[in-house]
Amino acid sequence: MNVMYKALPCNLVIFGIGGDLSRRKLLPALYQLDKENLLHPDTRILGLARSELSEDDFRNMVMNSLVLFVGTHVDQATVRRLMQRLSYQRLEFGNAASYVQMQAYFSALPRTSLFYFATPASIYAEICAGLHHADLIRDDSQVIMEKPIGDSLASSKVVDDEVGRYFTERQIYRIDHYLGKETVLNLLVLRFANALFTSNWDYTCIDHVQITVAESVGIEARWGFYDKAGQMRDMVQNHLLQILCLLAMEPPADLSAENIRSEKLKVLKALRPITSTNLSKKVVRGQYRDGYIKGQAVPGYLTEEGAHSQSTIETFVAIKAEIDNWRWSGVPFYLRTGKRLAMKHSEINIHFKAQPHNIFSSAYPELPANKLTIRLQPDEGIELQMLNKVPGITEISRIAKNRLDLSFSESFNQTRIVDAYERLLMEAMLQNQSWFVSRDEVEQAWTWVDAIINGWNNSGEKPDPYPAGSWGPTSSIALIARDNRQWDE
Ligand code: BG6
Repeated sequence: MNVMYKALPCNLVIFGIGGDLSRRKLLPALYQLDKENLLHPDTRILGLARSELSEDDFRNMVMNSLVLFVGTHVDQATVRRLMQRLSYQRLEFGNAASYVQMQAYFSALPRTSLFYFATPASIYAEICAGLHHADLIRDDSQVIMEKPIGDSLASSKVVDDEVGRYFTERQIYRIDHYLGKETVLNLLVLRFANALFTSNWDYTCIDHVQITVAESVGIEARWGFYDKAGQMRDMVQNHLLQILCLLAMEPPADLSAENIRSEKLKVLKALRPITSTNLSKKVVRGQYRDGYIKGQAVPGYLTEEGAHSQSTIETFVAIKAEIDNWRWSGVPFYLRTGKRLAMKHSEINIHFKAQPHNIFSSAYPELPANKLTIRLQPDEGIELQMLNKVPGITEISRIAKNRLDLSFSESFNQTRIVDAYERLLMEAMLQNQSWFVSRDEVEQAWTWVDAIINGWNNSGEKPDPYPAGSWGPTSSIALIARDNRQWDE
């Protein structure tokens, strides 16, 4: 165990303990941290929700969640330890008086509180007001907020202003769970610990970059939420732009939150705006229709449970993003993400430029360029496509394309990849904001995304249909083909 990663003792208070996020992600993450001895022995966890639950009901809910999302093999000693840390209180989120009941819990355990808002952002303000009313916010309290923070620049400012009335920016931890993924964090190591990639990482060596975050799932009974968001707000504004920032940013002076965030912010500020005037050449949006995923028939977006048949919300987006700064001049970043695509598969492809002069041109008029593939999930790993001489006495310059392939599971002999929420919960307990998103980043990302969404609204065009189980609408192939390039598939 790494002693440096011993979290400080705290009261972790989870608002919305019965919700999907808590059950699917937070409780399993806390179980894993406890199993690895990464929770301080004195850390306590208070779950809050609207339902009237007896102690037994609550413990059953926790146990069921662990069995469902960790597995039936859960370690019983860890479960017992975790259960001892946990307690439950019913809370009327909108009733400030209800928060006073929590005072006894806090006065018995007076130490840093970590408030986790696992609820919709629309009630963050009332939670903050309730905590303030009951005098539960101290200078060392922290708050973790889930995305989405608003659905536009204006509404994100409202949420942040409301929370900002009670907590300073240093106390606020905004989650983008992609920043807790091992492979996403590895981008920093790859770029800044390997001289090979530090010096070749700019417009002189890189032709273009592709970022694909493909999901095979649909909207999973979340139609009501998803139809107000769409793939642009749900995935691009946060996850894809954060990946782009880590790929494109200048080396930070160190790993401090201040330095990492300020470098990411510079990238967001340098993104060339996409507005009504250039929208049709730079962005494609799609919506899935009926199709097949792994041989199973699945319904189209407009016929999903709870759907209304006129929706024009996008379930797929492809974008040609450009970064107007010295390093990335003339290097497009093609982003692509969608629901109900052929498979769950997220990867980054860095396409290097071809050699300036080809001495093998008699046999190979066009030598393929090097390509670095970073597989984010599943089958996490890194692959470098290279050219090599085919061995043989008669083969003086026969060339083959080979891959240097590093699979994380094989190389690090891992039985399991740590979940992003484990990392992020632990970092919050260590009071390290480096892997959380600043308000400035959120607002800059919204500024860029709002312009695209406004362009769509002004054009009145509908998203292009694509069959579930495909790689998106054919217009997305055209988007990249116009530049004489193609998507990696
Ligand atoms: C969430 C989105 O932020 O990320 C979901 O709201 C999406 O729509 C999910 O499915 C994808 O996360 P992951 O970790 O499965 O890639």
